[in-house]
Amino acid sequence: MSGLFVTFEGPEGAGKSTQLARLVERLWADGLACTVTREPGGTELGSRVREVLLDPSLTIDPLPEFLLYSASRAQLVANVIRPALDRGEVVVCDRYADSSLVYQGAGRGLDARLLTDITRAVTGGQMPDLTVLLDLDPVIGLERAARRGQPDRLEQADLAFHRRVREGFLVLAGLNPSRFLVLDAILAPEVLEERIWHAVQSCPHSSSTS
Ligand code: TYD
Repeated sequence: MSGLFVTFEGPEGAGKSTQLARLVERLWADGLACTVTREPGGTELGSRVREVLLDPSLTIDPLPEFLLYSASRAQLVANVIRPALDRGEVVVCDRYADSSLVYQGAGRGLDARLLTDITRAVTGGQMPDLTVLLDLDPVIGLERAARRGQPDRLEQADLAFHRRVREGFLVLAGLNPSRFLVLDAILAPEVLEERIWHAVQSCPHSSSTS
């Protein structure tokens, strides 16, 4: 029996966490077992790597940055995501491999082939069944994120970087239309919640590993 793997993606301040929490509430209310996790993080190792990655006082070059995200991801897939899918659960993850393709690829300029090859190795090819992309103008998103407190290392990057990230997500979604649900994050939270719920309910439980 294999479960359903749902990821949330988007630029800073797009409201992923809010929508993720609403989805999880509905899954529980429907009696569905689910595992909720996030990247970077989700394991003891991932949490420590997260602290390093988000530390605004550190300068990290693009390649080691990607490798650190990948280290967290490898541990998360092996210890959390794959076991939960094998138990037949719904796994809901705040960011996943697409974030690396976009932040470290479109954003930092790392080679797409290198990113996909290493990502396939660290995930064992485990891709989401459904990816919800909350799309938002980075000017609005960064403003929202700034209201939450001091910017982390990624939020400190310049606007041009965040514009490339937004575009990168849209290009990736265009290349994978059957996996992505692209939503305008400016819509009312209730409207977003309904659309996401509908997409989850109509999603085939395949948990592709190719
Ligand atoms: P987080 O506080 O989780 O941000 P958000 O609430 O926007 O998800 O911080 C994660 C940051 O790491 C975020 O800026 C996106 C970035 N990131 C990457 O650059 N590459 C990755 O592979 C992942 C998973 C996240």
